[in-house]
Amino acid sequence: MMKILTLHFSQSGQLTDILTNFSSPFKDAEFDYQMIVPSKSYPFPWDVPTFFDTMPNSVLEIPCEIEPIQYKHEKYDLIIIGYQPWFLSPSIPITSLLKDATFQKIVEDTPVITLIGSRNMWLNSQESVKMMIANAGGQLVGNVALADRGDNLIGVITILHWMLTGKKTKKWGILPKPGVSDEDIEQVKIYGELAQSAFEQNDLEHLQAKIASKGGVEIRTNILFIERKAKRLFIIWANLIQKKSKQGKRKFWVNAFKYYLIFVLFVVSPILLLFYTILIYPFSFKKVQKRKTYYQGVDLQ
Ligand SMILES: Cc1cc2nc3c(=O)[nH]c(=O)nc-3n(C[C@H](O)[C@H](O)[C@H](O)COP(=O)(O)O)c2cc1C
Repeated sequence: MMKILTLHFSQSGQLTDILTNFSSPFKDAEFDYQMIVPSKSYPFPWDVPTFFDTMPNSVLEIPCEIEPIQYKHEKYDLIIIGYQPWFLSPSIPITSLLKDATFQKIVEDTPVITLIGSRNMWLNSQESVKMMIANAGGQLVGNVALADRGDNLIGVITILHWMLTGKKTKKWGILPKPGVSDEDIEQVKIYGELAQSAFEQNDLEHLQAKIASKGGVEIRTNILFIERKAKRLFIIWANLIQKKSKQGKRKFWVNAFKYYLIFVLFVVSPILLLFYTILIYPFSFKKVQKRKTYYQGVDLQ
């Protein structure tokens, strides 16, 4: 019987639902479901200062302490990891798992599928996850990335409403529901079916192409553009805040980052996007398609 290890972290339960639906087609498998539990839990709902204070450690991929995981076996036929990006990086609990020595032993020479439940910016975080899995000797064979399909800026408002109230409801009763839609969470089963039959037919090589062809890793051009620029700036801010923390000025600089982020998101990025769409995109169409194909895949550059 196939042995499957699933590992995930979820504050709202969204990723739990995604993982449960994805796993459901593996009828004859033995599952070891494991939650990643940070020793010092992150708040949910979040308060504003803690939310932004999480940025430097997320971006610099500094792990937190997690509760030891009682694995049922030493080796598995498949490992499924459900995770969310935090500040364009893997969430800290997931970084902590991927850097954990026991997990690294388990993942060695084992196929891995990642499931992402994001707002809409997961490209950079998946590059880090790909790297950490590869460094541990695991083989990423599939990735399904679910995201909020609505407008990017409205999505910022609605996700903050969700994160700061703990309620996945329509802000002011009129904005769309935040996060991944109920339909997409339900539909994730189809990717689970693809994965199940890939294992049955011993054809993992083509799994990701099939997931991509069914819409499991959609990438919007505007998000691709923003993400490529934003991560570099986040790294600069994260290092600056770490440096200032040593001088006892962390609170001030985290607050400065918050205002910077709001300004960049709502003022700078729409202007840059407009220029990009008119002046650059028409002449770099092929390059953009190539990048999208890369990010939709499971290989490392
Ligand atoms: C601190 C924090 C930072 C986040 N940053 C991002 C991000 O950079 N990109 C993104 O698509 N979603 C981001 N999100 C949304 C999460 O990826 C995720 O969709 C949401 O937190 C729900 O996940 P859950 O299953 O843990 O409840 C962030 C959420 C939190 C709490």
